Amino acid sequence: MIPFSPPRIDDKVIAEVTAALQSGWITTGPRTKLFEKKITEYCGCQATVAVNSWTMGMQVLLDWWGIKEGDEVIIPAYTYCASANVIVHSGAKPVMVDLNQDDFNLNVEKVRAAITPRTKAIMAVDISGFPADYDLLMDLVNEAEIKDQFQASNDLQEQLGRILVLSDSAHSFGALMNGKRSGSLTDISSFSFHAVKNLTTAEGGALCFNLPDGFDHAEIYRQLCVKILHGQSKDALAKTKKGNWKYDVEEPGFKCNMTDIQAAIGLIELERYEENLTRRREIFHRYADAFKSNDWAIEPAFETENKTSSYHLYLLRIKDITEAQRDAIIQEIFEFDVSVNVHFQPLPLLTAYKKRGYKMEDYPEAYAKYSNEISLPVYFDLTNDQVDTVIDAVRKSVQKVLS
Ligand SMILES: Cc1ncc(COP(=O)(O)O)c(C=O)c1O
Repeated sequence: MIPFSPPRIDDKVIAEVTAALQSGWITTGPRTKLFEKKITEYCGCQATVAVNSWTMGMQVLLDWWGIKEGDEVIIPAYTYCASANVIVHSGAKPVMVDLNQDDFNLNVEKVRAAITPRTKAIMAVDISGFPADYDLLMDLVNEAEIKDQFQASNDLQEQLGRILVLSDSAHSFGALMNGKRSGSLTDISSFSFHAVKNLTTAEGGALCFNLPDGFDHAEIYRQLCVKILHGQSKDALAKTKKGNWKYDVEEPGFKCNMTDIQAAIGLIELERYEENLTRRREIFHRYADAFKSNDWAIEPAFETENKTSSYHLYLLRIKDITEAQRDAIIQEIFEFDVSVNVHFQPLPLLTAYKKRGYKMEDYPEAYAKYSNEISLPVYFDLTNDQVDTVIDAVRKSVQKVLS
């Protein structure tokens, strides 16, 4: 069976994790701090806080920014449930918008139409690793009329003076836009290092801060480190220093720090990340070159004039098919011992969001994309022979179902 996205665990990773285990320090410590520093350098952002998942990073972030009941946060209808769940837990309302026609990203004109005086943030999602239109989003939130209707409800929001632009960069580590890396494309970005992601720490994530001039990123880093550790003024490592046992709790915080065992995996993953991206790029091109000869294939956008994907997911679409035909094609592909997937079921299809009143018919582009989409395997260890097996399985399965 060709798996969909296995992690790359080899002797190097095992040796570094073993070294962390043997170091006498396994929770947040020197490896996590080094990992944060290296991510900041790689992404070109101003500060990075490592956490135990994208989800908890974003949850803490929304709390830190003061998002609360009565507020609205705009997201695409087409994303993983985490993007919306954290907004629900913050007490605010996720306001969903439809997608662009040419790619899987949220449509900025739909965002414009969804903005109200309650809008506190826009969370774009870099689906499959292809960056959203951050330049257009930044222009939008800086338009005089949009700024005028923004209502700040705390000092941070006052200082920014406009809607915050967040990036759900769960998929886009290493992606580029206008020569800058994901993590530095907007105000604040959140990465996921979950087991299936391009760069993994088993579970994990990172918040990357890149707020405008005037924000004190060293102070923001300090505040976030406190917030992810119950509000404790000192972390476990600081408390081990001689006579340094006493600490305060500045506020009731969260508990979602990254461990040094996770960071050990991440450090190795980061060290060899460019070779990972290069291999993923080759696989994307092999798929694209193959399917361009099939007139039923709609290829995903992954390289344009100013954007380069992180090559996380290859979102192939099949022209003019129904959802049932797509499901039948997937069944056939599995018969060839090839694992494929669907990214994503749009949020309005899920019970939790149907119950909250969201309707699929309000997001026709999201439904159109979902109903004929099949995600193909992409990972460093996938060989060219395996890629060819996937291509063959897809072609034969499409032919069988459509004949
Ligand atoms: C688009 C998107 N956002 C957020 C997440 C949540 O990431 P995590 O599992 O690290 O919380 C995922 C995870 O798959 C995702 O795909």
